[in-house]
Amino acid sequence: MRAIDIIMKKRGTKVRDANGNQILASSTTLTKEEIKFLIDEYTAGRIPDYQMSAFTMAVYFNGMNFEETGALTDAMLHSGDVIELHGKDGLPENEIYVDKHSTGGVGDKISLPLAPIVAACGVMDPMMSGRALGHTGGTLDKLESIEGFNVNLTEEQFRAGIKKDGFAMMGQTPNVAPADKKMYALRDVTATVESVPLITSSILSKKVAEGADALVFDVKYGSGAFMKTIPDSEELATFLVKTAQAMGKKATAFMTAMNTPLGRMVGNFLEIEETVECLQGKGPADVMELTYALGAEMVLLAGKAESEEEARKMCEDAVSSGKALEIFLANVKTQGGNPEKLMAEIGKRRSQFHTQVLAEKDGYIKLDAFKTGLASVYLGVGRNKSDDKVCPDAGIIMHKKTGDCVKKGELILDVYGKDEACLPQAVKMLTEEALSYSETKPHSDQLIYKIIK
Ligand code: URA
Repeated sequence: MRAIDIIMKKRGTKVRDANGNQILASSTTLTKEEIKFLIDEYTAGRIPDYQMSAFTMAVYFNGMNFEETGALTDAMLHSGDVIELHGKDGLPENEIYVDKHSTGGVGDKISLPLAPIVAACGVMDPMMSGRALGHTGGTLDKLESIEGFNVNLTEEQFRAGIKKDGFAMMGQTPNVAPADKKMYALRDVTATVESVPLITSSILSKKVAEGADALVFDVKYGSGAFMKTIPDSEELATFLVKTAQAMGKKATAFMTAMNTPLGRMVGNFLEIEETVECLQGKGPADVMELTYALGAEMVLLAGKAESEEEARKMCEDAVSSGKALEIFLANVKTQGGNPEKLMAEIGKRRSQFHTQVLAEKDGYIKLDAFKTGLASVYLGVGRNKSDDKVCPDAGIIMHKKTGDCVKKGELILDVYGKDEACLPQAVKMLTEEALSYSETKPHSDQLIYKIIK
């Protein structure tokens, strides 16, 4: 087999129609063996970056069907370690291990309250998360804002955490899907990130590697999402579900709105704080709603409830009984943090570099997710370069949300920066780009647009 022949098959050939116009003939479907050859040889360094770039560009233009996407995911998955949970280190053999994956957003801290809630319902959740990417936040950065919290777990520690608390939170080990690491870095600089089969295989190869048997996807759409439009988001959601199912996993995707930030807080420790509020049953309505909806689906997929109503009630009871908060704090302790210190910091731990945004006029406000996310990166919540350090205490508290009516001079945002110097520019971004006013109430999105199974 040769890489060039595989590239040529996926590229297809240009032909002329009866009028002499040049058209691109459809490319040929690749076999499992061809895809495996390409990924194995690329991971081993025997296929160079320039050939893989040509291949990803061919996929960008000609796509892949579900079978090809499944074969690509499988090859990428087996390029590295796959964590085994069943019957290992005392974990149950016949359990259905379930996890959730979000395509990322602004203020999206759902994983943090979700894991202990479903754990309180008896679900076992192997949660492997990522860091802040672009304008979106990252679960690992949020967890690391808890002093001492260790996300660099070994496989043994990961399994021990799941056995003890029902879930554990870790970052990817260097050997999870190494093919994806190489390919993602290449796609990033060859304009081939925005391809549904490539995104699907990238996400799924990492998710399946963590050992989950069932997956719930939260596929965002809107300004703060990776997929801006509903059709693009639906295409990705469908690909994720069908490819996961083709790989023998149970899967459901929720398409959810990300035109405005989720909840009232954007930041690392601030989102831990909002998590605690949720687990105390007093979180913002949108965060509670999405957490319960995704949680109920995880409980159902794990086989811990007979109906959606029962699963939802179990999640609500986990919060009202205090059990989910207890499990969250137990996990903080298991992973090296100090739960008492954490609880003592709630509502008090703030960056000293602070300013406020007040309403410039009367009216209904709209807060754009993407622009708010960009301002939060500027404040130090995320990174401009991959080796930047994030600031645990930077962030934004939103006292008003899209659709709220304000009076001139009313407090809309508390803004916390990594230093004094970042504040004026961040406020400029928030007031001139993220925030807008109208005389009539703006359209508000349906939080959960569609569920795909
Ligand atoms: N997130 C991933 O993990 N991979 C992609 O290709 C895009 C988003």
